[in-house]
Amino acid sequence: MKLIVTGASGNFGRATAECLLERVPADALILVTRDPRKLADFAQRGCDVRRGDYGEPDSLATAFAGGTKMLLMSASKVGSRIPQHQRAIDAAVAAGVKHIVYTSYVGLDGPNPSLAVSDHRGTEELLRQSGAHWTILRNSQYIDAVIEAQAPHALRAGRWIASAGDGKIAQVSRDDCVAAAVAVLAEAGHEDQVYNITGPELLSFREIAAIIAEVSGRPIEYVVVDDEGMYAFFDSLGIPREAVPDQVVNAIPWSSDDMVSVEAAVREGYLAVLTDDVERLTGRKPKSIREMAEERRSELAAA
Ligand SMILES: NC(=O)c1ccc[n+]([C@@H]2O[C@H](COP(=O)([O-])OP(=O)(O)OC[C@H]3O[C@@H](n4cnc5c(N)ncnc54)[C@H](OP(=O)(O)O)[C@@H]3O)[C@@H](O)[C@H]2O)c1
Repeated sequence: MKLIVTGASGNFGRATAECLLERVPADALILVTRDPRKLADFAQRGCDVRRGDYGEPDSLATAFAGGTKMLLMSASKVGSRIPQHQRAIDAAVAAGVKHIVYTSYVGLDGPNPSLAVSDHRGTEELLRQSGAHWTILRNSQYIDAVIEAQAPHALRAGRWIASAGDGKIAQVSRDDCVAAAVAVLAEAGHEDQVYNITGPELLSFREIAAIIAEVSGRPIEYVVVDDEGMYAFFDSLGIPREAVPDQVVNAIPWSSDDMVSVEAAVREGYLAVLTDDVERLTGRKPKSIREMAEERRSELAAA
């Protein structure tokens, strides 16, 4: 069996490939990127590194040839990913891929205002109609973004600006999302299942800010603003409003249209999803925000 990992050069994809190498031989892995030079280290270890671009169907036909099961990494331009994902699904099915595992997003039921929802709902529908087996991994928001971007900024400013109010979310570490994906990819089964990949507890950003303040030993005031206030905050950081591909500004990879809509979704309760799916899939409990903050206490204290 050959496993394809798309988005293999990114944070999620590289970690997935690394974990898969502990479970399958290197020549069972097809790693796809728009720029194979980024994965030269994996090629040297015997993985089959191939060029593929969601924008170029011909490249995908070659990239996916011979694959059995595939991780479809959601693309990066929030709000307009369905055509990219459609090309990838069509190419995978045409290449004979039997089972597609997709990195989706929690809270797709109900009128969730999050901008990312339409991409993921549309892609899930395409998968259900694709004729291939599918597994949908509805990942919650990554804790990593809190630790690496939101918390350092809030510590420097002494203020955590949020329009999410006291809405709650069970954020999850990217490593736990990767471990869940690896379990589904490396094991038999999991066909036509939806898993909600969440952290261990529902917390508001007010509670998260308090944990970061306590662990770092530095004060953070939690400041609730409306959507316009949230846009003004992101504008002040130089974050573009509209999504553009491959965008990273001040270590934050998204547009404010996306992030303000996520805050609204949290405020309105659409992301308040909590499950034990990480433990069921991986056999271990997911990491909490407190654990991740404690692991990086000195970094946070010095922010
Ligand atoms: N749940 C959350 O909180 C959360 C947060 C951040 C991201 N995400 C989702 O998780 C995904 C992975 O995150 P990450 O941190 O690993 O992102 P990342 O480091 O930015 O990696 C994105 C990957 O997508 C690939 N890609 C982008 N556009 C592509 C295209 N047109 N054709 C083929 N491949 C393309 C890139 O490959 P090349 O550049 O090598 O071609 C790269 O490997 C993101 O794309 C996003 O959908 C979720």
